[in-house]
Amino acid sequence: MESLKGKNVVLIGASGGIGEKTAKLLASSGANLCITGRDMLKLKAVAETANIPLTQVFEMDLADELSVKNSFSLIQLQMPVIDILVNAAGVGIIKPMETLSAEEFRLSLNTNLVGVFYLMQSVLPGMKEQKKGLIINIPGVLGKVPMAGAAAYSASKFGLVGMMQSIREEIKRTEIRITNLFLGGVDSPFWDHIDLRVQRDKMVMAEEAAKAIWFLCQQPRSGVVSEMVLQPFNHQAI
Ligand SMILES: NC(=O)c1ccc[n+]([C@@H]2O[C@H](COP(=O)([O-])OP(=O)(O)OC[C@H]3O[C@@H](n4cnc5c(N)ncnc54)[C@H](OP(=O)(O)O)[C@@H]3O)[C@@H](O)[C@H]2O)c1
Repeated sequence: MESLKGKNVVLIGASGGIGEKTAKLLASSGANLCITGRDMLKLKAVAETANIPLTQVFEMDLADELSVKNSFSLIQLQMPVIDILVNAAGVGIIKPMETLSAEEFRLSLNTNLVGVFYLMQSVLPGMKEQKKGLIINIPGVLGKVPMAGAAAYSASKFGLVGMMQSIREEIKRTEIRITNLFLGGVDSPFWDHIDLRVQRDKMVMAEEAAKAIWFLCQQPRSGVVSEMVLQPFNHQAI
């Protein structure tokens, strides 16, 4: 395993259920971490418990191109070389077509897909210059298999997988690694506003999902973990 000590890592969505646990694990392994999210209060609380300096905490709305660009220009002042980008941000709108609004569909795509396009535009030039780097996204199982009510969410996550596979082709002469983490249900605030009967106590724990990301950040240098699947025992969709 590659050590995380001194690695420059940017974590998007550090205020979320999985992101927060990931921030703590990466920081405690010696990574030099910049964290982002929309809610500065939550981010500052994460920074405090994970011992991340406040100068490395950035407000960033993934759905807003200018916000992503502005945050990255500040991040790059702190971190001219980014070794690892972990994107743990995302929005989950799970509704049948009858109640799904066009606005909700657009929000899903703008956050989970177009937002990652902005991220790629921000990090790829530097990684291409270094000819190395690691990019981890979490398309989730619904980025691979369909589910009723997931038209917006799956459209965004299947799109994300397609975009990342295409980028993988573009950078194949470099050592930039692209990893997709396909998580099944993880018990996090993600499910707080989803109107579905789900058994949260049977889901993967957010800490365990974070450990998977922590492992992926240390994957062996001589290869690439292009995909990882982690799902609850009682709901193995793949
Ligand atoms: N939980 C699951 O069952 C599950 C399963 C498969 C895949 N995933 C994926 O895993 C990732 C993390 O999910 P989670 O369970 O940690 O969800 P969560 O607890 O709801 O956290 C979501 C995170 O995304 C951030 N976010 C949402 N919209 C944003 C925007 N426009 N700009 C910037 N940040 C934004 C939130 O920040 P704010 O604090 O600003 O809202 C929060 O940090 C997501 O991509 C999700 O799709 C989750």
